[in-house]
Amino acid sequence: MAEQIRTAVVGAGYFGRFHANHYSKNPDAKLVAVVDADAGRAKAVADEFGAEAVTDHRQILDRVDAVSIAVPTPLHFEVARELIAAGLHVLIEKPITDTVESAKAITALAEERGTVLQVGHIERYSAAYRVISEKIDRPLYLEGYRIAPWKTRGVEVDVILDLMIHDIDMIIGLVGAPVTKVDAVGTGVMGRKIDIANARINFESGCVANVTASRVSYKTERRLRVFAQSNYLNCDLGERKIFGYGLRGDPMTQGLAAITTETIDIPQEDSLANEIASFLDCIKTGKKPFVDGHAGSEALRVAGLINESIDAQLQKVQSWLKPGDVLAAAAKG
Ligand SMILES: NC(=O)c1ccc[n+]([C@@H]2O[C@H](COP(=O)([O-])OP(=O)(O)OC[C@H]3O[C@@H](n4cnc5c(N)ncnc54)[C@H](O)[C@@H]3O)[C@@H](O)[C@H]2O)c1
Repeated sequence: MAEQIRTAVVGAGYFGRFHANHYSKNPDAKLVAVVDADAGRAKAVADEFGAEAVTDHRQILDRVDAVSIAVPTPLHFEVARELIAAGLHVLIEKPITDTVESAKAITALAEERGTVLQVGHIERYSAAYRVISEKIDRPLYLEGYRIAPWKTRGVEVDVILDLMIHDIDMIIGLVGAPVTKVDAVGTGVMGRKIDIANARINFESGCVANVTASRVSYKTERRLRVFAQSNYLNCDLGERKIFGYGLRGDPMTQGLAAITTETIDIPQEDSLANEIASFLDCIKTGKKPFVDGHAGSEALRVAGLINESIDAQLQKVQSWLKPGDVLAAAAKG
């Protein structure tokens, strides 16, 4: 067997634990260390997957080849910068960082150091994304809908960076054209950070996407609808089902018989296992990551445009909101 890639996970919270699990199971990797500022958490996850517990990522710089970063988003940049500067390959959880400048800086640093920098936009490694991109060539319109109940994890960022960024990145990947204009609305509900938002995203190709995200819903739903000139997909990403409609004849003479329908069961695959296998493959072969630092930076740039548009909308509604209203608080930032 070829030599295993020595790996570590920095940030052993909710999502970092999943990364540790996959490194421990992947034959191309050896999970050497689990790093968490909270010693108890580092030990619990390290013990579970047979690795060493460490409390500071600087202690592993010369002992591993590749690292997953799953610390809270505001810390991504500092941790990534130090790991990449030390010549390590990095898989950084989404969103890449919390500013476009810092995202571009680590992307440039990885290019300079010749290391792999992959961003954990997990939906792009899903079977659903693969099926959709095989079925739809040039989308004209996409509708992303992602809602989830309130939770206290992830609230260090707004819903755009917490949830909507998944659809932003996936849609940019499917459209394959630059974003030219964004119109958005949103508000904080639980606090000052935006918890519910809708954005209309215009692409240079003429395609339009309408994206909604909420983290204050009673239920969980993840849907994507896509239409192109002669086909339409209605994808329930949560239930792993795609309903497809297309044309096989002349609707003018054949009526409804010209329309084809199909139900596709999205294959049961673990998207994070795919993402980590792809990261390890890039390290072994020198391939460019499917979602690299440039893609991560672009998703973040578009998230920034959405936030700017929401800020402008909140300034307008301030004039008619009652004092003390949550919306008014959100508008003041
Ligand atoms: N791809 C996805 O679907 C997905 C889902 C959830 C979270 N995430 C991302 O994963 C990241 C972590 O989110 P989470 O929900 O696991 O958060 P979490 O709060 O559960 O875990 C974060 C962990 O990082 C540790 N930590 C904080 N500072 C540290 C430091 N300097 N060094 C080492 N450890 C440190 C904390 O002690 C904690 O254990 C976020 O960027 C989030 O956006 C991605």
